[in-house]
Amino acid sequence: MLAAAFDVGERLKRGFEPHPAGFPPGPRGDVAVELLRNPLAFLEDAAARHGGAVALVLGGERVVLVSDPGLAQAVLIDQAADFVKEGTAFFPGTALAGQGLLVSDGDTWRRQRQLANPAFRRSAVASYAAAMAGETRSLLEGPWAGGGARPVYADFNTLTLDITTAALFGTGLPRDQATEVTGAIRTAFEFFSERAASGFVVPEWLPTPGNAAYAAAVTRLDAAVYGVIDRRAAELAAAPAQAPQSLLDALLGARDEGGGRMARRALRNELMTLLVAGQETAAIALAWACALLAHHPAAQARAAAEVEAQLGGERPSAANAGSLRYLEAVVLEALRLRPPAYLVGRCAARDVNLGPYSLPAGTTVLVSPYLLHRDAARWQAPAAFRPERWAGVLAQRGGAAAALHGLGPNGAYVPFGAGPRNCIGTGFAMLEAVVVLASMLQRFRLSPLPGAAFPAAEPRITLRPSAVELIVDPR
Ligand code: HEM
Repeated sequence: MLAAAFDVGERLKRGFEPHPAGFPPGPRGDVAVELLRNPLAFLEDAAARHGGAVALVLGGERVVLVSDPGLAQAVLIDQAADFVKEGTAFFPGTALAGQGLLVSDGDTWRRQRQLANPAFRRSAVASYAAAMAGETRSLLEGPWAGGGARPVYADFNTLTLDITTAALFGTGLPRDQATEVTGAIRTAFEFFSERAASGFVVPEWLPTPGNAAYAAAVTRLDAAVYGVIDRRAAELAAAPAQAPQSLLDALLGARDEGGGRMARRALRNELMTLLVAGQETAAIALAWACALLAHHPAAQARAAAEVEAQLGGERPSAANAGSLRYLEAVVLEALRLRPPAYLVGRCAARDVNLGPYSLPAGTTVLVSPYLLHRDAARWQAPAAFRPERWAGVLAQRGGAAAALHGLGPNGAYVPFGAGPRNCIGTGFAMLEAVVVLASMLQRFRLSPLPGAAFPAAEPRITLRPSAVELIVDPR
């Protein structure tokens, strides 16, 4: 307790101290309140005033905000060993996800990434496409069937939870188990999402009523998830599946270089990590893409015409999704303008040099995809929604994969991060977005509510929309 009080005193003091020698320029004082008031305007203003690396004190944490493409490349790729996850301030979700792939470092991370990789190979991801299309059809034929005004962001939160759960645990899960697991996940996620929305600065260990309810939801979720893991492990031991039916199967069958399996706790952490990392980000990406299409009817008409020409009434799948180049460009452009992960955090593992700056060990570095994606030196008309700008790179071999290689075609595009810690779910998320949007465009036309402005952003840990309400008209 005393240590915590001391720590709080130290943190408070930090706002009044000058930045260390060799630090980049930046505003004096603790700026957490200004940042939380309007995060996007704050970030843009800080970069405009101070440049591509800005020193900030946030809630007593010493932070460097990076938006210079060369420095971003150094943090994420060239000096990846100097900038680690452990010690990064503001990291969410450890109670839910434990020390899973997203937050671990070094050998623990390497082993987990190696074990998880097979579940994200192109062929494995392709096998989840049926679940993606099937869950989307349930939404479109269920709640959307009559058309009218829909809370699209809320609908996509449920849809991506159903898709990720189906891909993780398999659509073969008996109905009662599926309902139990999905229900527990939903409860835990509601708390998780409220905690995330409450800002960067409420630690998970504080005994607040919200945190206690969150911990109870995680306990319920654990019981459900361990139940599924144990039953599936017993089934596979009795009759090994020819090919993995789900991410869980792939992870249960995974072996590291030494032939070792994943421990039960590590497996649970991995499944939760994938849910935490993959559900909300995907819902946000889909909601922004739909809002952009609704507010840009010409782009929507072109995307719908492409879907009609390439697929007709055929169900979107891994095999035909690659022919939807314009729709892929819509997704890339939505991710550019509204990257769900708009800040990516690291911690200096030791005293390090970053370009011309010296950062003491323990400095948190926040690389900002949002600022990089709007860098006027790298993008023409950066604020405009122009899917056409992706035509050239998508025509190359590799399509979207080429657009997402390294820091992107112009060195300033990182919606899925970059380097060794880039998003393992990139292929999953891109396929999911194209399958969901194509399914939707086959059946519905989207438009804003009469007189409605473009949805406002509500940036917290992710760049979520406040709400996206659209009119969905059956075609
Ligand atoms: C549009 C949707 C998504 C976006 C924008 C997104 C974005 C990102 C970003 C920026 C990172 C890098 C974070 C960093 O460098 O600190 C990341 C990492 C990660 N993502 Fe995603 N993601 C998405 C979907 C998914 C999905 C669908 C999954 C899994 C099903 C997933 C699983 C992960 C995991 C496990 C990591 C950590 C990888 C590691 O550290 O080795 N993500 N994601």
